[in-house]
Amino acid sequence: MKISLVVNGEQREADVWAGESLLFALREHLALPGSKNACEQGECGSCSVLLDGELVCACLVLAAQADGHEVATVEGLAEDGRLHPVQEAFAETGAVQCGFCTPGLVVATAALLEANPDPSEDEIREALSGNLCRCTGYVKIFDAVKLAASR
Ligand code: FES
Ligand code: FES
Repeated sequence: MKISLVVNGEQREADVWAGESLLFALREHLALPGSKNACEQGECGSCSVLLDGELVCACLVLAAQADGHEVATVEGLAEDGRLHPVQEAFAETGAVQCGFCTPGLVVATAALLEANPDPSEDEIREALSGNLCRCTGYVKIFDAVKLAASR
């Protein structure tokens, strides 16, 4: 089936099968591999994207459900060749090790700061509770969120 959706502000079309996930469609049909496929079960958050402004796991959304909707991925955050402040903060604080969780965490953090520019420690932990990182121990990630918020 054909779907038509807006991805990172651009009208895009894809030919998908009925059971295909939005994550698969983004990565394999729309050449947007930034959203990572780690668990494919909604457990890790590495595939986090915004669907009509709501943070979702793209592995749990059917591509067909995104037909006619707006999707924002990590690729859409940088503007005019400049990293998004959240991306800069992750790089500066050393919140990236293997990097597999990073795109999802960056998208989730950007969504948090959009809704709540000055989150408390508890609010940060709650907002990122769906994003797993097996490398960093999370301390640097929370530092990155606080740095981005301070800017
Ligand atoms: S790949 Fe989607 S939540 Fe893990
Ligand atoms: S940096 Fe490796 S999983 Fe987070």
